[in-house]
Amino acid sequence: MPIKNRLADMHGEITGWRRHLHAHPELMYDVHETAGFVVERLREFGVDDITPGIGKTGVVAVIKGKTDTKGRVIGLRADMDALPIEEATGLDYASTVPGKMHACGHDGHTSMLLGAAKYLAETRNFDGTAVLIFQPAEEGGAGGLAMCQDGLMDRWGIQEVYGMHNTPGLPVGEFAIRPGALLASSDEFEIRVTGKGGHAAAPHEAVDTTLVAAQIVVSLQSVVSRTVDPIKRVVLTVGTFETDSVASNVIAHKVRLQGTVRTLDPEYRPIAEERVRRIAEDTASAFGAHAEVIWTPGYPVTVNSAEETTHAAEAAAAVAGKVNDNVDPIMPSEDFAYMLEERPGAYIFIGNGDTAMCHHPAYNFDDDAIPAGCSWFAEIVERRMPVA
Ligand code: NI
Repeated sequence: MPIKNRLADMHGEITGWRRHLHAHPELMYDVHETAGFVVERLREFGVDDITPGIGKTGVVAVIKGKTDTKGRVIGLRADMDALPIEEATGLDYASTVPGKMHACGHDGHTSMLLGAAKYLAETRNFDGTAVLIFQPAEEGGAGGLAMCQDGLMDRWGIQEVYGMHNTPGLPVGEFAIRPGALLASSDEFEIRVTGKGGHAAAPHEAVDTTLVAAQIVVSLQSVVSRTVDPIKRVVLTVGTFETDSVASNVIAHKVRLQGTVRTLDPEYRPIAEERVRRIAEDTASAFGAHAEVIWTPGYPVTVNSAEETTHAAEAAAAVAGKVNDNVDPIMPSEDFAYMLEERPGAYIFIGNGDTAMCHHPAYNFDDDAIPAGCSWFAEIVERRMPVA
C-alpha cells in the first residue's frame, strides 16, 4: 500500500501547520507556543488523552485502536525545537523571530506526527495503543532524556519506539535506515592549560603555554589513529584554540582548547576520555605547565534494534515502494538515542531532496515529504498492531 489516500487529502492542511510552525520557531525547552499548538490540534482530533509538561515542555498523547486485545503499545516521536540561526531563505513564511530558525526540519517532523495523529484518531484501524511523543530540546538540551526521566516509557507502557529525521540529499519520499549504530555519540571536552606568561624575547623565564597547548593538539590526533581499532569509527576534533595573549611580543599565560569526540562504538567513549586526560595532563606536566580537562558526556550512540528496524523498513517499503535498509551511518548525534536506550525501536531517514544541509541558514523542510512521512508513522501502527 502506498501513501494513504486520507493523508494525501490532508497534505494542504498539514503543510499549513508546518509553515505556521516554521514562521514561529522556539529554542530548546522554551517551546511553549509550539507545544500549545500541538495540544490544540490534538484536542481537535479527539485523541484519548493529552499530557503536556513531560520533560518540562514535551507533550504525550494517546490514541487507542478500535480494539485492544493484544495490549501492544507503540511510541512515535517527533522533535519540536528550532535553532539559534538567522534564516536566509527569503520564504514568505520564513521565521518571524530574529536569530531563530527551524533549520533542522523539526517543524516538518512535528507536523507529520500531527498528521498521523489526525489520521489515526479518525480511523483507529489498529489493535492496541499509539503513544505520540512531542519532545523539546533535541538540539543540545537532551529533551528526550528529560522525557525519559519523567517516566515516559513506564508511565505510558511503551514497548517499542520509532522516530524519523529528514535528510537532504536523499530524494523526497524515499527512506533509508540500518540496524545497529546509525548516528554517533557526542562528548565534549575543554582543556585549560596554564603556563607562565612573559616577554616574547625572554622565553627562558616563561613557560610558553601556546607551545604546550600546540603539543597537546598534535598529540590528541594520536588518540584515534593509535588507540582505536582501524575498523571502528571514532573522530576527535579540536574546534577552538584561544590564548590570553593579544600581542606578538607576549608569551601566553593561559590557553583554552575545546573539542568533541564522536563515535559509533560506545566502548571507545571512556577510552577516549582517559586518553585525552592523560595526554593533556602529562604533556603539560612535561613542559612545566598544568592542564585541567573538563569532560562533558553528550548524546549516546543512536542504535536501532534489529527486529524494530525490520518493521520500520517494511513500513517504509510499503509507503515508498522501496527502502534502503543498509544506509551508511553518519557522525552527527541525536537524542532519540536516549529513548532507544530504554526501549527497542528504530530511527529512519526520510528524503528531503536537493536542499541545503540541516543547520544551514538556507535550509528548508520540503513539504512534498509530508504524505510519505505521515503514512510511515501510521503504517508502523497499523502493521505492528493489526486488527484481528
Ligand atoms: Ni534535527
